[in-house]
Parts: sequence; structure tokens; C-alpha cells
Amino acid sequence: MSALSLDISLAKSFFTEEEYNKMKEEVLRARDVLESHSGLGNDFLGWLDLPMDYDHREVCRIKQAAGRIQESSDVLLAVGIGGSYLGAKSAIEMFKPYFPKGGCEVIFVGNQISGSYMNELLEYLKDKDYSINIISKSGTTTEPAIAFRILQKAIIEKYGKEEAKKRIFATTDKAKGALKTLATAEGYETFIVPDNVGGRFSVLTPVGLLPIAAAGIDVDKMIEGARQAYLDFSNNKTVESNIALEYALVRNLLYRKGKKIELLTNYEPRLAYFAEWWKQLFGESEGKDHKGIYVASANLTTDLHSLGQMIQDGERTIMETVLAVKHNSLDTKIIPDELNLDGLNYLVGKTMNEVNAVAMQGTMMAHNAGGVPCMKLTIDELTPYNYGYLVYFFEYACGVSAYTLGVNPFNQPGVEAYKKNMFALLGKPGYEELREELLKKLN
Ligand code: PA5
Repeated sequence: MSALSLDISLAKSFFTEEEYNKMKEEVLRARDVLESHSGLGNDFLGWLDLPMDYDHREVCRIKQAAGRIQESSDVLLAVGIGGSYLGAKSAIEMFKPYFPKGGCEVIFVGNQISGSYMNELLEYLKDKDYSINIISKSGTTTEPAIAFRILQKAIIEKYGKEEAKKRIFATTDKAKGALKTLATAEGYETFIVPDNVGGRFSVLTPVGLLPIAAAGIDVDKMIEGARQAYLDFSNNKTVESNIALEYALVRNLLYRKGKKIELLTNYEPRLAYFAEWWKQLFGESEGKDHKGIYVASANLTTDLHSLGQMIQDGERTIMETVLAVKHNSLDTKIIPDELNLDGLNYLVGKTMNEVNAVAMQGTMMAHNAGGVPCMKLTIDELTPYNYGYLVYFFEYACGVSAYTLGVNPFNQPGVEAYKKNMFALLGKPGYEELREELLKKLN
């Protein structure tokens, strides 16, 4: 049985069968473009065959490095941003206990430029043993570079240059970029980000695998799950047999019908960061040429008490994709109370997860009745294998969906605009003209 299923029954009333069938042709064409490597950005398709292409010696080296980190460190600082951060964060949040008691803590840094965060982090690290994994494919991204400059000094001051060298790991391009130059000069152990895998598709490369393995999560199982997904989604060439195609189809069809926002919802707090990873994957891949579904997320039932009103009753531009978990090994019974002053005795005999599942069902039906088409993606159980499967499912669906939309899924030209302004305003050499222009606007 597949680890993942898709139910579109609560979306179907928003389009006709004819529209669905017409869209099928477009999605199948987009699939062909992806599989034949003939579309825009086709030099970034390394993720497509990655599950079958692992160099097992490299995976071993990652696990060995993770083992050394676990032995020597209370904390691993994973320094990176965007695709060099969100994949590992999503996996670690999915599998670490809600209330951890020991183990190697992975702290993410370099994913913002907050001076107060760094200040508190340096204080926190004073009585901790730690290692650093600096992750940047380009090796030139400002946020992690600033963080690494400060943390490298701190770790050298704490352990001395030789011991610090054993505690710093660099994940970057095989040949180019400032980080590669620095890592080679300092003799840091280095892991390679494949040329043909872009940041947001890189969680199953060393970018994600080293911090994930250091957190004690089984990366072999993740790779196995991704491999099964590769077989399922590459081999099944019809929409009827391939839920990645069906998902891409329905979200594009709904988009054309005015549903401009896709809300990924979950009912399990440990999925909150998976939604952040998903938002980057689809947002950065599709939001271009003034097109694209705006991707948002909500954690339910929590956000039903904040965003719920808007979802139910605000502008009718939202579609919802619920990420549901079928089996949850841990649960809590609802206990009887003699006085029943809270009126909850009608729930006795049920568990909290059962109530949660009913809340999901009721909410989906309410949203659907209120004009929100709902798709439901059900994952069997939260396991590393299923994580790998789910990641590959979304990556494949994203490639097909972006080609259906008619954009290059693998570039991100829009990200440069803020960087240029920031560099100019900070006085970076080479940005003098823009600096003058911006300063005039500010005055
Ligand atoms: O998906 C992408 O390519 C981006 O989000 C990058 O991951 C992000 O900008 C970080 O880039 P780098 O790894 O080069 O520091």
C-alpha cells in the first residue's frame, strides 16, 4: 500500500468533469517536459533521479560525521537559509520529541540577521559543547556568511584552531564560492551540493542529510522512501495512477477558477515546519512572471481561532490542502469526571486523536460548504521513510505544476531585488550608483 493518498472529493464541485479532462492533457504534457528534461531550467533536474543515484560512500561519510558530532557535541549549529535550512528544519521538527530529554540539539542560525538572536545564542553556547555545519550552495549568501564569521571566531576561541577544525563541517559547491575557498584553506571536512540540484530541492542531499542524521534520524529510511516515491511517480504515467499529477492538476485548475491562495493545513504541531519547507518549494518555484498560487499555511485547530473566520468567510480565493496523518502511535484518553461541570463526559471513551480527526472532518466539510475547495493528502504515519516519500511527492508535483503554469521552476530571479538594495544601502563596493538612487528616494 502506498504511504500517501489523495482525496479530492471535497474539491470536485468547484470544476466540471470536462474542465478536469481538458486540464489532464496539459498536466501530462508538463509531465513529459519534466521527464524528458526539455523544459526551462533543465540543468537543475538532478533531484529527479537523485533517489536512484546515491553514492553510498558519501552517505556513509555523512553518517560518520553525524556520529562524531553526536559524540562530541550537545549542540549542532546548522548555519544556512532558504533551501539550505528549511528541509533539515522540517525533518527535525517532524521527528524530534515535543519535549526532548537529551540528544544532540540542532539549532538553526544564519536564517535571519537578528543581532539579539545571535547575542543570546553566544551566551547559550558558553557552557555547551558544539559543532558547526555551515551550509551554502553558492557559498556567498549574506545571512549565513555573517553568522558563520561570528560563530567561527567563537568556536576557535573556545576550542583552539585544531580542535575547532574537527568541529566545523562545510556543505557547499564542489569548486566555487567563498565558502568553498574558506573551507579548503582551513581544512574543514566538506560535503558537496550537486551542481544540478537547487536549494529548495536539496533536502535529500548532504544539505539536509547531515543535520538530520546528527539529530539521530534514520537518513537511510528517508532515502528508501524517496526511492519508492521515485518508482511510483516516474513509472505511473496517467493522472489516474499518479497522485502527484492529480495534485498538480487540481491546484492549477482551481487557480484558473480564481482560487489564488493555497493553504496547507495540518492538525499535528510537528508538521508546522514541513509547511514552511513546502511554502518555499512551491512559492520560489512558481511565483514568477506575475503568476503563481500564493502558498500559505495554517496549524489547526489552533489557527481556527485566529484565521478560521477568514478561511470560512473571507474573500473566496482560497483552496485548502489538508496534510493528514492516519496513524499516530501516541495518544491520550479523555477521562470521565463525576461532576461533569465542563460537560465533556460525552467524549469519554474517545481519545484526543480521535477528537482531532473528527475536528478535521468537520472543518473540511465546513470550509467546503463555505466555498473553499479541499484536497486531503493522507500520510500513513510520520516515519523517516514516509518523510522521504512525501518530499519526493511534493518535488515531483511542483515540477509538473510549475511547467503546467508555464514558468521555470528552478530559478528565483525575484530574490535578487532585496539583496541589491540591501548591499547598496550597506555600502558594498560595486553598488555605488544604486546606493545614490536609493538614498535620494529615502530623503
Ligand atoms: O532554493 C534556493 O535556491 C534558495 O532558497 C537557496 O537555498 C537560498 O537562497 C540559500 O542559498 P545558498 O545555499 O546558496 O546559501
